[in-house]
Amino acid sequence: MELARFLHGTADSRTGGQTIRHGRAYEAFGTVLFGGRRRHVFTRLAELTGARPGDRALDVGCGTGYLTLRLADVVTSAGSVIGVDPSADVLAHARRRANGRTHCTFTDGIAENLPAADGEFDVVASSLMLHHLPEDVRARAVAEMRRALRPGGRLLLADFRPPTNSVARHLVGAVTGPVMERNPVHLLRPLVEQAGFTEVRTGDLHPWIHYVQAVKAGPAA
Ligand SMILES: C[S@@+](CC[C@H](N)C(=O)[O-])C[C@H]1O[C@@H](n2cnc3c(N)ncnc32)[C@H](O)[C@@H]1O
Repeated sequence: MELARFLHGTADSRTGGQTIRHGRAYEAFGTVLFGGRRRHVFTRLAELTGARPGDRALDVGCGTGYLTLRLADVVTSAGSVIGVDPSADVLAHARRRANGRTHCTFTDGIAENLPAADGEFDVVASSLMLHHLPEDVRARAVAEMRRALRPGGRLLLADFRPPTNSVARHLVGAVTGPVMERNPVHLLRPLVEQAGFTEVRTGDLHPWIHYVQAVKAGPAA
């Protein structure tokens, strides 16, 4: 099986997105991709969400739960975090990994139709998920994240930033397929602004991450 198909090739009838199976193999790939910086990068992403102890957080397209668990550490057992993903295999992996942290749970669902009540969460985060959705579905997913946030709640989107060097970019494409080679991360900011978020900020984390932070305007609860 080539890596491109493993990463982006499993269709789910509920979503135009491509889900990931094989949680254990995904973990191995993630470790190699971040070259020893994965924990540092995802700990930083959890901080960048602005989550605080006691918050209710949602991780959309949580995969094997790497960011979800970092968020669980930040919100502490005074709060809670839910990871959502349509792939049963990665959810099973994530649940095993949660290892008794009862404030960290995982559930089946899709970004375009989140299993969440309006305004249920203080923080919504999503890492490396949006490039799995067809471009015309991404706005729907971001609108859903906004719906799930309370007024004053905070959004963090992070996705794969292709290398600027064309040789390295082609190498990424050869190994992982065209989705990651051409991932248009510069469109994340306008996507978030068009969804109605305010206080939008962007940044990069070495080696591959571009992120967008934003707030759902309105009086905090
Ligand atoms: C590259 S993985 C990222 C996993 C995790 N967030 C991380 O940073 O390691 C992308 C995840 O998005 C999930 N996914 C694909 N389509 C989705 C959809 N429509 N809604 C939510 N998640 C989706 C895949 O199943 C996969 O677990």
